[in-house]
Amino acid sequence: MTLPNARDFSHLYSEETKARKPSPLKTCIHLFHDPNIIFLGGGLPMSDFFPWDNLQANAALPPFTNGIGSALTGSKDDSLSLAVKKNEASEGDIPLARALQYGFSAGQPELIKFLKEHTEIIHDLKYANWNVIATTGNTNAWESTLRVFCNRGDVILTEAHSFSSSLSSAEAQGVACFPVPIDNDGIIPEKLEEILDNWTPEAPKPKLLYTIPTGQNPTGTSLADARKVEIYRIAQKHDFLIVEDEPYYFLQMEPYVADVKAREESQSGAKKSHEEFLKSLAKTFLSVDTEGRVIRLDSFSKVLAPGTRLGWITGAAPLLQRYVELHEMTIQAPAGFTQTLVAATLNRWGQEGYIDWLIGLRHEYTLKRDCALDGLHKYLPKSDAFKVNPPIAGMFFTVAIDASAHPAFATKFNSDPSLVEKAIYDKVIARQVLVVPGSWFKADGETVPPQPQSSKSAGNPNEIFFRGTYAAVAPEKLLEGLKRLGQALGEEFGITSA
Ligand SMILES: Cc1ncc(COP(=O)(O)O)c(C=O)c1O
Repeated sequence: MTLPNARDFSHLYSEETKARKPSPLKTCIHLFHDPNIIFLGGGLPMSDFFPWDNLQANAALPPFTNGIGSALTGSKDDSLSLAVKKNEASEGDIPLARALQYGFSAGQPELIKFLKEHTEIIHDLKYANWNVIATTGNTNAWESTLRVFCNRGDVILTEAHSFSSSLSSAEAQGVACFPVPIDNDGIIPEKLEEILDNWTPEAPKPKLLYTIPTGQNPTGTSLADARKVEIYRIAQKHDFLIVEDEPYYFLQMEPYVADVKAREESQSGAKKSHEEFLKSLAKTFLSVDTEGRVIRLDSFSKVLAPGTRLGWITGAAPLLQRYVELHEMTIQAPAGFTQTLVAATLNRWGQEGYIDWLIGLRHEYTLKRDCALDGLHKYLPKSDAFKVNPPIAGMFFTVAIDASAHPAFATKFNSDPSLVEKAIYDKVIARQVLVVPGSWFKADGETVPPQPQSSKSAGNPNEIFFRGTYAAVAPEKLLEGLKRLGQALGEEFGITSA
């Protein structure tokens, strides 16, 4: 079946994008690699003067039988020894001479090829001219997205609580983040539609919905598949783009089973086949998209290492070309060392080996999530004031707290939940554990003129929450941290543990 091309979304470009002319120097840089051309056209240093002859590394080797976290023995069974040469392209490597040179702002071809094949395995793309470009991670990709589409005074839609750096990035560019109510299954489509149907006509309409569908930061919730279809329909109706920021997509876990014995039974032999694993993954906005209205941000930060500073964007080729033109004047390209090392590893692992890695990650995160939830059930004071929603993906758990259950709510705190939040924060720090207040992640942007009062989040005004992670420390430390958290909350609310 021939797929249609993406629709034209150039009417959503920012003034900056419309004003940007492609750098003329970048239009001829590909000729540097044409052996018939004597290239005197740009300030490229000769690779002879790069001091590195090769790049060597030892990495884990699929199928990671002893688990993805086990130390390498150096034997052929678990260790991959790789060496990338300066001038030779073998095993799908990016020769160092090219990787460390200017050029290839969209990413080195060997890396992009792997990512495109990966994209075809994971997503069900429904239009023809999609593409993938490399980024230095989702922080960069989001900042670029704002610049490609938004002007000062614009508004975007975000989950009512969202990743604070993403909100700050928008606010710093003069873009207001209008909150959309969420529940345990993510954005509530009916509320989103209500907000947009009642949008103040004189206010600029949102150009983007920024969402973290899987293992949302900070709430730890995941957007239900059926809601993605609904939200996409609303995006078509109100003509905005959907930006799915998905660093946690591959940290989707087995469901939490509270009973340890039943859990052991349900998880024994849980190492899924590739087919089962792929089938179990959440539907993506990219797979719902028939028009090229979705921009997907992926990152290696949570699946390989944050210091790779490497990620990629998937979307309609004409939109991605605007990013490349911006990147030519900002990041130029992700670092050559990073692209070389990651591409060399992934091309040796192959798509199958990479999926083995992702299955291994799922297993480890399931264990850590289970450990955190067991600890929370054990150590949180027994009271209806504290609620934990078991995450099915990502790195975060949240403890929702009914601030009005604090014995001094009306007196000492003047019935102000934010003062209770502050008191809890001080108490947990004093108890030497760090979890962070939900208010740090609150989106509270407003348009000029403002939106009707009925479009503002309602919810329980006395509910506050704290975000913690089970990703950062080993299980013993995690449990000790949760014990301290439980003690701090018990002390603050005057509840003695059973
Ligand atoms: C939702 C979200 N987006 C982006 C990032 C940053 O990703 P990267 O390391 O790829 O820049 C994070 C990391 O904490 C995140 O939670």
